[in-house]
Amino acid sequence: MRLALLLGAALAMAFVPLAGLAALVLTGAAAGLPALLAMAAVLLAALALAVLWARDVELLAETLRQASHENLPGVARAAAAPALPAMARLARTMERLARAQASRATRLGEGLRASEAIIERLPDPLLVLGPDRAVLRANAAARAAFGADIAAVLRHPDLRAAIEAAWRHRGSEVAEIDLPVPVARAVQAMAIYLDPALADGGQALLVLSDRTRERAVERMRADFVANASHELRTPLASLIGFIATLRGPAADDPPAQQRFLAIMDEQAERMNRLIDDLLSLSRIELVEHQAPSEPVDVAALAERIAAGFEPRIAARRQRLELAIAGDLGTIPADADQLAQVLGNLLDNAIKYGRDEGVVRLSVAAAAGGRWPARPGVTLAVTDDGPGIPRAHVPRLTERFYRVDQGRSRAAGGTGLGLAIVKHIVNHHRGQLAIDSDAGSGASFTVWLPATADK
Ligand SMILES: Nc1ncnc2c1ncn2[C@@H]1O[C@H](COP(=O)(O)OP(=O)(O)O)[C@@H](O)[C@H]1O
Ligand SMILES: [Mg+2]
Repeated sequence: MRLALLLGAALAMAFVPLAGLAALVLTGAAAGLPALLAMAAVLLAALALAVLWARDVELLAETLRQASHENLPGVARAAAAPALPAMARLARTMERLARAQASRATRLGEGLRASEAIIERLPDPLLVLGPDRAVLRANAAARAAFGADIAAVLRHPDLRAAIEAAWRHRGSEVAEIDLPVPVARAVQAMAIYLDPALADGGQALLVLSDRTRERAVERMRADFVANASHELRTPLASLIGFIATLRGPAADDPPAQQRFLAIMDEQAERMNRLIDDLLSLSRIELVEHQAPSEPVDVAALAERIAAGFEPRIAARRQRLELAIAGDLGTIPADADQLAQVLGNLLDNAIKYGRDEGVVRLSVAAAAGGRWPARPGVTLAVTDDGPGIPRAHVPRLTERFYRVDQGRSRAAGGTGLGLAIVKHIVNHHRGQLAIDSDAGSGASFTVWLPATADK
């Protein structure tokens, strides 16, 4: 077969000179024997050329075969061999093309791996959906957040509506959804239709961002504004009411006027305290990100603040016990804020402690160990009053949280004292521990680090 092909090619090449020679012999222009010899030579030359040509074509085919298998050494080997100069040039061009192609493929592969790694490590859960809306791929965050529940998440009606809408206008669509499983979460889902589709058939991306924390913060802010307005409105309403009474029914009743003015004074004071506490809170929040660094002698500060409370202690026939260590030195702190911490804790102990009870203020060096873990100073205020039922303890530092609303109001409390304490302790990178139970007094311990770092 191969031989027949070779002979055919040789004959085709030799046909014109052979025919020319035959014509010369027939017309008698050339002698028989030399013409026969010439014809044999022509045939031989054509055969040799055909063999070379067939071999080179075979080599070119091999070059292409190796290139299609991305086997660069194979390409180089085959491309080095053609004997005919034109074929050799062609083979070298093929080799160059194969090399360029291979390096492009390498770069493409690297790029693909890089984008896959980015998708995989994206902190937000990301799903790739196929044309049938089924999940083709899920990144690590998605697997960690939803695991086997991904199918259930995709069945959420609002999410499905968003995906359908994205498909309809071939764009992106956002949905806010609440997921009850595996834990209650608020999620912002963004469906992004991809046109053209991804190489793996991915037709849309679904990014699911967990908004649970942001929602909680938003709710807290809204609650805070509502609570603060409510706390201010109550004394304001009372003031407005008394003003009307003083102008009307009590206009000619001096003893009633004196009584009402005393209540009005008290209500105005309450508003004043509330505004002071609100301003304190927002001032502390403004600087909370940066730990204070001014050196403060905590022992001296504690003694000064305690002395200021003597009259109130005496008024309730309580006893103030001071246990202040002598050689504490200074710690990095904000003196005004520490004064506020001690003031608020002593105020609570006196206010909520019992008549003739004992209020104890201790300031000591903490060596560091189980709690607190690092060396520093602890300030503790303890009373032997009715204490706080254990269930309330974790919530005491929330703004406006009071165990007994009526009692706190009657005592002039704003419900912000411990929230302020907590923020100041955070500002100092310290810790607050509350130990109390119904009937067994209350103890508030603040630990402040001895060094400014962390
Ligand atoms: N030493 C204490 N003994 C009993 N209850 C306390 C004590 N300290 C705080 N509490 C409770 O914690 C609540 C929150 O305290 P705080 O934030 O200082 O607000 P306020 O003193 O203005 O009511 C108080 O209303 C009170 O119910
Ligand atoms: Mg208080």
